[in-house]
Amino acid sequence: MKTRITELFGIEHPIIQGGMHYVGFAELAAAVSNAGGLGIITGLTQKTPGDLAKEIARCHEMTDKPFGVNLTFLPIVNAPDYPGYISAIIDGGIKIVETAGRNPQEYLPRLQAAGVKVIHKCTSVRHSLKAEKIGCDAVSVDGFECGGHPGEDDIPNMILLPRAAEELKIPFVASGGMADARSLVAALALGAEGMNMGTRFIATREAPVHENVKQAIVAASELDTRLVMRPLRNTERVLNNPAVERLLEKEATLGKKITFEDIIEEVAGVYPRVMTEGETNTGVWSCGMVAGLIHDIPTCQELISRIMSDAEALIRQRLTGLLQ
Ligand SMILES: Cc1cc2nc3c(=O)[nH]c(=O)nc-3n(C[C@H](O)[C@H](O)[C@H](O)COP(=O)(O)O)c2cc1C
Repeated sequence: MKTRITELFGIEHPIIQGGMHYVGFAELAAAVSNAGGLGIITGLTQKTPGDLAKEIARCHEMTDKPFGVNLTFLPIVNAPDYPGYISAIIDGGIKIVETAGRNPQEYLPRLQAAGVKVIHKCTSVRHSLKAEKIGCDAVSVDGFECGGHPGEDDIPNMILLPRAAEELKIPFVASGGMADARSLVAALALGAEGMNMGTRFIATREAPVHENVKQAIVAASELDTRLVMRPLRNTERVLNNPAVERLLEKEATLGKKITFEDIIEEVAGVYPRVMTEGETNTGVWSCGMVAGLIHDIPTCQELISRIMSDAEALIRQRLTGLLQ
C-alpha cells in the first residue's frame, strides 16, 4: 500500500509502532521494521545518550530497514540531556524521529539539518497545526482512546481524525485504538495516511517485556482502562489494577490539593518492575482501550501481514461490494 506516509519514511506498509517506555527496545523496533512497518526505539528508556547510541547500534545489527527514535519532551524541571540524545540520534544515522510531549521547535533545526524527518505526536487539532507551522514533516494524531497520555480535551478519533483532515496539509497517521485491518481502513477513510499502534505491539512475540504484561493485555476488555492524574493535568490512560484504584481513591479524597508527591508510590519507578519483572499490579502503566480488541500474541510479521491482507480484502470485497 502506498500513502504519503510510506513515501515519506521509505517503508512498505503504513503502520508505525509508537515509542513506549521500557517496551521500545531494539528487539521490537527491528521486528516491526523487518515486517515492513516503522519500528521506533524509545529514547528516554535509555538512561544516557551513550546508552541510546548503543541501542541504535544494536538495532542496526538486527535490521537493514528504516527505524526511528522517540523523543518525549517531559513537563519536568530537570530535563534530560536532550541535546545529547539528539547527537546520539544523528550520529547513529537515524533519519526518523517521533517527538511527543512539549513543543519540539527548539530541536528541529538540528534534526532537520541532519536530514531527519520528524513526526510529532499530539492529541489535538491545534497542536497538530502548530506542529505543521514549526516545520514537522508529519503528525501522529492521538485520540482519547489511546494508551498513555491522551491530553485533556477528550476527543475520540471518530471526530479528531476528520477534523485533522479538514485542517492539516502535512500527512498524519491515526493513533489510539488502532489494532487491526478494520482500524487501518477506517483511519484511511477518515483522512489519515496510516496508523500508529502502541498497546497492540506490546502483545507480540518480539516485544521484550515480561509474559505477564502480554497476558494482562490479552485478558483485558475495553472496560478495563482508567484515566489517572487528571487533577495534575497529566492525564494518563492505564490498565486498571489495585494500585490504580488506590491512586484514584487518593484523587477523590485529596481533590484539587493533590500533588505528585501524594501518588509517588503508585507512579515512580514502576515501568522496569512491570515490564521487566512482570509485576503488573505494582503501579500504574499505560494501556489503551484497544486491549478489548487484542486476543492473541502474534509475531510482528504475522500481525502486520494479517493487517495488510485483511485490509485489502476489506477494501476490495466488503467496501467495493457494497456499491454493487
Ligand atoms: C506502555 C506504554 C508506554 C508508552 N510510552 C510512551 C512514551 O514513552 N512516549 C510516547 O511518546 N508515547 C508513549 N506511549 C504512547 C504510544 O506511543 C502510542 O501513542 C499509544 O499507545 C497509542 O494508543 P494505543 O495504545 O491505543 O495504540 C506509550 C504507550 C504505552 C501503552
